[in-house]
Amino acid sequence: MVSAHQEQGLRVDGVAVADVARALGTPCYVYSAASIRDAYRELDTAFGARRHAIHYALKANSTLAIVRLLKGLGAHADANSMGEVDVALRCGFAPHEIVFTGVGKSVAELERALMLGVHAINVESPGELDRLDQLAAARGVKARVALRVNPDIDAESHPHISTGLRDNKFGVPIALASGLFLDMTRRPGLTPVGVHVHIGSQITTLAPLAKAAEAASVLARDLCAAGVPLEQVDFGGGLGIAYDDTPVPERTAWVRTLVEAAGATDLTLAIEPGRSIVGAAGLLLSTVVDVKHVPGGRRFVVLDAGMTELMRPALYGAFHRIEPVVVRPGAPEPADVVGPICESTDRFARDRALPPLAVGDLVVVRDVGAYGAVLGSTYLRRPLPPEALVDDGTWTTIRRRQTLDELLQLEV
Ligand code: LLP
Repeated sequence: MVSAHQEQGLRVDGVAVADVARALGTPCYVYSAASIRDAYRELDTAFGARRHAIHYALKANSTLAIVRLLKGLGAHADANSMGEVDVALRCGFAPHEIVFTGVGKSVAELERALMLGVHAINVESPGELDRLDQLAAARGVKARVALRVNPDIDAESHPHISTGLRDNKFGVPIALASGLFLDMTRRPGLTPVGVHVHIGSQITTLAPLAKAAEAASVLARDLCAAGVPLEQVDFGGGLGIAYDDTPVPERTAWVRTLVEAAGATDLTLAIEPGRSIVGAAGLLLSTVVDVKHVPGGRRFVVLDAGMTELMRPALYGAFHRIEPVVVRPGAPEPADVVGPICESTDRFARDRALPPLAVGDLVVVRDVGAYGAVLGSTYLRRPLPPEALVDDGTWTTIRRRQTLDELLQLEV
């Protein structure tokens, strides 16, 4: 997707990112449609003849053009808030193509999801089952429920994005699930449709994903055998991408692992991938605004992008590759790449070996297609940055830069 070209600099699918920077200014996000398509198709194809559904996790990147692109490829949607449900609807998803997840859904949200008739509400607690049952029974309808189970499995990812341990707030302990499912079959307002599990994100080994998938599949098969008419088992998302040189499992291998774990069953195999579809498709373009050497100390490269545009390094100590758009001659030297925000955690890299950089140079921060723009903030009254999509050799603006007036519109 991204190629280096000495004179005109770095390109995304043939488009010189310097051209995008000139037109939109920096900081700005640039995505490759081809990379998203390839990733989606790889997952889709890997299921072979197995009945499956790929619910794209909108939380990773819900810019309308990206969501529409995935809709066009045949994806379904995983929405984690009413805002995301509405984005999915606006992008053309039918309610029956949307699953609604979230650890703390309000009664108003449950009611809206119920009345829309979403494919499944992924329920996270016995209390939520009660509330949903009451809401549905009072309206004479049935809620389609997938129960999220917590299998107490360590995803071996960053603790901030691990969700499958019993100490995490997510799901119901898997040992309680059978009882809750059997209870659901007797409730007037509930139709159990599936088992759901999601143990975390940026998972870089298949073993925990396989274990969780097996646990969910065994439960689902047992329930079917006990006469609970389930339709699907949903394995969540979580497959990591290669932010650095450490290899990660291939998308195809992940799907094969899930299919194997599912065993002999007619259930639809659902997944909710976010990062593994869009993560590698995005880069953040930024301009060097200052370079300073502390005598006998560090070299700071200060960018016009910071934690307001890309929160991951500040939140998780996340690693992202950084490189100049045009490489200047000279030996690489260690640098701290930092943003302009008044917080010391506003740092993209520490002691990173980088070629010489001067004020005005363009740099890219890679692999920011997932949990990049969506986690942006307007701290320090910094308007949200624009986003561009490269497709078929040309680029278009898919979100323009917010203006200060727009930012202040809500205020008196
Ligand atoms: N399904 C559920 C229920 C989830 O909670 C998530 C992610 C996904 C699917 C999609 O997971 P993925 O395939 O993208 O790993 N902000 C963090 C990641 C938070 C993930 C939250 N849940 C980061 O920047 O690493």
